[in-house]
Amino acid sequence: MQEALHIPVALDRCIALLSPAIESSTNPVIVDATLGLGGHTKALLSKYPNLKIIALDRDLKAIEIATTNLSNLSDRVVIVHAVYDELATVLENLGISQVDGILFDLGVSSMQLDQADRGFAYSQDAPLDMRMDQSSGPSAQDILNTYSYGDLVRVIRNFGEEKFATKIADNIIKAREAGSLNSTKDLAEIVKASIPAPARRTGGNPAKRTFQALRIEVNQELSVLERAIPQAIKAIRVGGRLVVMSYQSLEDKIVKKAFTQVTETNSPLGLPFDLPNSAASYKLVINGSEGASDLEIETNARAQSMRLRALERVAA
Ligand SMILES: C[S@@+](CC[C@H](N)C(=O)[O-])C[C@H]1O[C@@H](n2cnc3c(N)ncnc32)[C@H](O)[C@@H]1O
Repeated sequence: MQEALHIPVALDRCIALLSPAIESSTNPVIVDATLGLGGHTKALLSKYPNLKIIALDRDLKAIEIATTNLSNLSDRVVIVHAVYDELATVLENLGISQVDGILFDLGVSSMQLDQADRGFAYSQDAPLDMRMDQSSGPSAQDILNTYSYGDLVRVIRNFGEEKFATKIADNIIKAREAGSLNSTKDLAEIVKASIPAPARRTGGNPAKRTFQALRIEVNQELSVLERAIPQAIKAIRVGGRLVVMSYQSLEDKIVKKAFTQVTETNSPLGLPFDLPNSAASYKLVINGSEGASDLEIETNARAQSMRLRALERVAA
């Protein structure tokens, strides 16, 4: 029943990308940095009977559900409640220096979106929470109540790529002073009223961008990702692979930049060969990025915005 809540995105493709690294290892170990409900982890463990997975999630509810979903496979999975920028520490605590592969399936799960009381969905009325880890940190309500006008504009503009950020921030301040900003519905209405009617007719629900912005700020999603990807790149062994699925362009840009940095040679531009010790230690497994197939998008709306990137370590 609970497993039906989340269809893992690009499941076969992720397995295919990780399989050379798993199959070339005697005792393969993979990190699933975003366990969610355990969809990818379960499929990988089922396909490879000798595989062990270290699985991270910052959401205790996701961990609870995944633990149930993986109960038959519990001897081969270590589940850790952690933010993925703690990856290096988690591995160190487990006495593991390098792994065969790492998978990131970024963003929120459909469980988080579907549970109205989490406050992620603009289409359902709920408290303004939006924390992936409800055991710590400020909620969206805290941010909306305390941020200055300038900080609200910065968040909504930079993380929501919202043209009308100043008007929205202005109306947020007015509503909070009047005590009328207390739920996701209130926020969705404030955003709608801040956007001129012609602009409201295109681009889907006008609240989408502001909700995305707040969610990113509440969970510090971009700075956490910026710290996590270099740790993951460092943690894979030679022949190991790193696979990342992003769902919005700000995340994908971070992944792309980090991958480009480590796959480019350090030789001066224009040389037909690499100078000694300057060849890159990583290569792109996918040139650029890949999306989901049309067929998958038809059956899983979440797959629509997905961008997949993959990297292999080729030298120490
Ligand atoms: C898209 S879901 C993963 C779904 C999973 N692949 C599956 O098939 O069930 C993303 C999960 O990553 C978790 N997550 C997002 N950001 C995180 C972070 N910075 N650290 C740890 N977990 C994170 C979320 O709580 C959510 O459960």
